[in-house]
Amino acid sequence: MNGRHRNILIGISLVAAMGVTMHTGAQTPGDIQQAVDAAYAKFRTLQEGKNADYIPALAKVDPNLFGIAVVTADGKVYTAGDVKTEVSIQSISKVFTMAQVIEEQGLDSVEKQIGVDATGARFNSIIAVEAVRTVVGSGAPEMNPLVNPGAISATSMVRGATSDAVWQKIIGFHNDAAGRQLTVLQDVYKSESDTNQRNQAIGALMLAYGYIKNNWQQAVDLYTRQCSIGVNARDLATMGATLAAGGRNPVSGKQVMNSSKVPGVLAVMATAGLYDDSGKWLYHTGLPAKSGVGGGIVAVSPGKFGIAVVSPPLDDAGNSIRAQRAIADISNAIGGNPYAPRAK
Ligand code: DON
Repeated sequence: MNGRHRNILIGISLVAAMGVTMHTGAQTPGDIQQAVDAAYAKFRTLQEGKNADYIPALAKVDPNLFGIAVVTADGKVYTAGDVKTEVSIQSISKVFTMAQVIEEQGLDSVEKQIGVDATGARFNSIIAVEAVRTVVGSGAPEMNPLVNPGAISATSMVRGATSDAVWQKIIGFHNDAAGRQLTVLQDVYKSESDTNQRNQAIGALMLAYGYIKNNWQQAVDLYTRQCSIGVNARDLATMGATLAAGGRNPVSGKQVMNSSKVPGVLAVMATAGLYDDSGKWLYHTGLPAKSGVGGGIVAVSPGKFGIAVVSPPLDDAGNSIRAQRAIADISNAIGGNPYAPRAK
């Protein structure tokens, strides 16, 4: 290689390297920790919203609990506040049970049997169940696995000879995504089991209309149990990072799901992850995300990071107020929005 060619090659390499930097909007560890600390300080004293109380055990959780965690796609962890205390995962479990069904039975299975469209109704709407029933057999239902009827259906689709066999698969998938053994918060499980008549009605209707093929009682029970899994902010951020990193848990190194199936999971999160407020959320952050009435929200910046906040007080749509604000601030500060133009 002569000198001129070498110089051209060095020039091309430099441009490529700059291109990569511009593409990732590369942040230093200091930048990320600073954004996390700034959001913690800004929202720690925010007193808005109210714990969910339709599940009695949730009303008793400390409303001041506030923890933030970011786990990058290469496994670095940044935290602020309380990232150890567990809350019940609630609806965030819907993402991982949906992911498990997609992993086991393919993207088509969820699209055809449950649907991947927003319902435009609240997460536990029975009217939404009535609205979709006429399209059974004539196309994909206008439903999705992140609202209760679709989530109970997704749980019913997990294959297993016994209830315990199905449960082992569900908790196993959550464990792999979090990178540790999670356990059920028994007080929450009991409290929700005692008061989940509405979900039982939804399960029975989903059987009546052909979305659940059998044993709706088992599906509702396992759904209630998966919602009672205890997680902290760091667990949730690791679960988000697993999706950000193409299905590979970047902390444990385990490939939890096939990377080709992850975009489907993220698409449903973008469409329906924050219920009635999913559009507003996407408008401001561009991030696929999922909330739970236990106070957690997890969001995913594909290829970059998972981020989670735990803070129990919720807004009227059922989404944690501090979590929404902190995640939006941090992600926007560190270039998390996949729709944002590349930095110049
Ligand atoms: O089925 C329920 O009502 C709860 N186990 C889960 C609801 C939930 O987390 C909705 N979240 N925003």
